[in-house]
Amino acid sequence: MGKLSKLVNSLQPSPIREMLKAVSELKYKGIDVIQLSTGQPSLPLDEEVIEFLISKLKEDPLTVSSYTPTGGIKQLILKIIEDLKYFGKIEVEENEVVITEGASEGLLLASLALFDDEDEVIILEPSYVSYPNVVLIAGAKPIFLTQKMENGYQPDLEELKSKITNKTKAIIFATPDNPTGRIINPQIAKGLIEIAKDHDLWIIVDEAYKHLIYEGEHIWFWRNEDARNRTICINTFSKDPAMTGFRLGYAFGPKEVISSMERIKQYTTLCSNTPAQIAALKYLEPRIKERVLKYTLDIYKRRRDALINSMLEFISEARFVKPAGAMYLFADFSKYLKNLNIDDKTFMMDLVNKKGVAVINGSSFGPSGKNHIRITFVGENENRINKGVILINEYLKEGRKNDFK
Ligand SMILES: Cc1ncc(COP(=O)(O)O)c(C=O)c1O
Repeated sequence: MGKLSKLVNSLQPSPIREMLKAVSELKYKGIDVIQLSTGQPSLPLDEEVIEFLISKLKEDPLTVSSYTPTGGIKQLILKIIEDLKYFGKIEVEENEVVITEGASEGLLLASLALFDDEDEVIILEPSYVSYPNVVLIAGAKPIFLTQKMENGYQPDLEELKSKITNKTKAIIFATPDNPTGRIINPQIAKGLIEIAKDHDLWIIVDEAYKHLIYEGEHIWFWRNEDARNRTICINTFSKDPAMTGFRLGYAFGPKEVISSMERIKQYTTLCSNTPAQIAALKYLEPRIKERVLKYTLDIYKRRRDALINSMLEFISEARFVKPAGAMYLFADFSKYLKNLNIDDKTFMMDLVNKKGVAVINGSSFGPSGKNHIRITFVGENENRINKGVILINEYLKEGRKNDFK
């Protein structure tokens, strides 16, 4: 057999996949697993969106099952522009938007369009697992900047400056973030933009959770004149409308970057999922989107609060910052894991196998995630979240000795 690429060897297999495999095996054996792990919304797609897609499929099956232009169907791009104006009060032009297969493809296309070998890309961590990997796929080098719990996970701008070299090309981060739920504060956003301007850096902002905010407001980088010509905003229909499996998202940014992303897309996915683009058209009607957001935020906020209360009651030595947005609580379990003498990955795998509770280990999100655990609060109702936390507490007391009960 021939050799595999150097790239493949540089990409670490994600422990999240390993954990998901364990969950599917337990479920196969009929064991109930409390799902506090993946960022999978548990609310179904809105009824009107479903009805609309079904009617379109019946009326015009050929169009719904055909290719679309690479950059996406024009009606959807126009609807996104209206949506950005309505929710973000920002003006975006048609040639500044490209439709993608989820935020994942947006992140990859932006990286491929912007980075060359030797470039360095600053990644705020702990954060979403894909950032260092898309940078590596594009041939560039990820440079981590740690966001500390004591600063509410806001990046330290002086530290950011100290990481910049003449090879630095961009900075990537999410707001609200995964796994911490922190929203970049307006002063920090301003500072970030100034630094990017001074050093001529691209800014890639992942806005996957921009509508899932419980306290505070989303920072629209595009509103800032100095950010506009250097910022690519990555978006998805996976999270607020709960369309993860439809694989749909979009990116907006300077038209030269967007057209370059589209050029690469011609040779990767060709175009995004057509039924998903049609469903998204309906979701973006303000009446429907506002209804979905209200319903979803109300449920997720109650679940977040239930998780916080259970943590305070049962796992009181875990340290965390109340997540202002997104779907996760990121907790420092150092005290417990040191006592048990295990690392966060061993804890994750053992917990799911012995107690049937699925969480994600903190190291998956970057070096500073060591000894942390990410607990998702959107996937289960309040009772099941509480039960999950009680089982985690049981495990922490018993350690590794007991088999699954
Ligand atoms: C911050 C962030 N960005 C991007 C993604 C990928 O989402 P998509 O389904 O849109 O590819 C996720 C998924 O959890 C995420 O948390």
